[in-house]
Amino acid sequence: VNVDESRPGLRVVVLGAGTMGSGIAQACAGAGHAVTMVDTGREALERGLAAIAGSLDRLVRKGTLSGDDATARRSRLATSTDLAAAVAGAEVVIEAVYEDMATKHDLWRRVDEHAPEAALRATNTSSLSVTEIAQASRAPQRVCGLHFFNPVAVLPLVEVVRGERTSRSTLDEAVAFAQGLGKTPIVCGDTPGFIVNRLLIPYVNDAVHALGEGVASAADIDTAMKLGANLPMGPLALADLIGLDVTLAVVETLHRETADPRFRPAPRLRQLVRAGKLGRKTGEGFHRYE
Ligand SMILES: NC(=O)c1ccc[n+]([C@@H]2O[C@H](COP(=O)([O-])OP(=O)(O)OC[C@H]3O[C@@H](n4cnc5c(N)ncnc54)[C@H](O)[C@@H]3O)[C@@H](O)[C@H]2O)c1
Repeated sequence: VNVDESRPGLRVVVLGAGTMGSGIAQACAGAGHAVTMVDTGREALERGLAAIAGSLDRLVRKGTLSGDDATARRSRLATSTDLAAAVAGAEVVIEAVYEDMATKHDLWRRVDEHAPEAALRATNTSSLSVTEIAQASRAPQRVCGLHFFNPVAVLPLVEVVRGERTSRSTLDEAVAFAQGLGKTPIVCGDTPGFIVNRLLIPYVNDAVHALGEGVASAADIDTAMKLGANLPMGPLALADLIGLDVTLAVVETLHRETADPRFRPAPRLRQLVRAGKLGRKTGEGFHRYE
């Protein structure tokens, strides 16, 4: 994104400095916005900042970003543990905290107490109902989904989710905001899994069913889809990358919301999650990682 330094960006607050929050904050700072990342403790904020610094360093080493640009982006990033003070002057609030309805409701209630009513409110939820999240706000017409993909710095798609009460102008603003980040937004309704997870996660879950049925080994299922369907990675390796807990949570949401037996979670997926084998992040899932 080419930033016009003479024009001030928006005041953006990102709630949650984890995997997604730090990625979204980085993208916003890269587009010239003044960003404040909010989390519950200093440690989480430091981890988020370190992740951003690492990502910017990689871009500088690859030659895609100049050292000066990286410094400018860092200078547009602030952190805070004080939600009330951070959102007080916000023009855009993006929430990327734990995928848990009670946590999100509690947070959006607090945002409402302190943020301007005019602020655009977006949730990065990957499987919860945007309509239900918006019910915690007194301004549900200002709430939409902005679903970024991991890693945010690499993947261009943003699903802009229209909740039942999201207004047309909110949706237009969200689309323009995502475009301003250099992303490609698509608009979708508030249906379970939106588009990408609605199509991708059942495929991954089906691969786990196939493994359980003895169709082939995990390695062979992955090789088959890589070399026979020309995909960048196999479905089980993809589940390991996403995290098996996250994958299971999305399948469960699809199953619960639709009662469609097609979305029955694969027993092997549940079993690995119970054993704490969550994929890359724990060193073992369908495959082992050093
Ligand atoms: N990981 C992915 O691939 C991915 C992709 C798209 C969307 N999402 C969604 O993004 C959201 C965040 O996911 P993540 O993977 O970044 O999680 P994460 O666990 O890496 O980060 C969540 C962060 O939120 C913070 N947090 C929790 N409660 C808070 C509160 N009350 N106030 C401020 N901060 C709080 C935590 O301390 C943590 O730092 C979830 O809704 C998830 O479904 C995740």
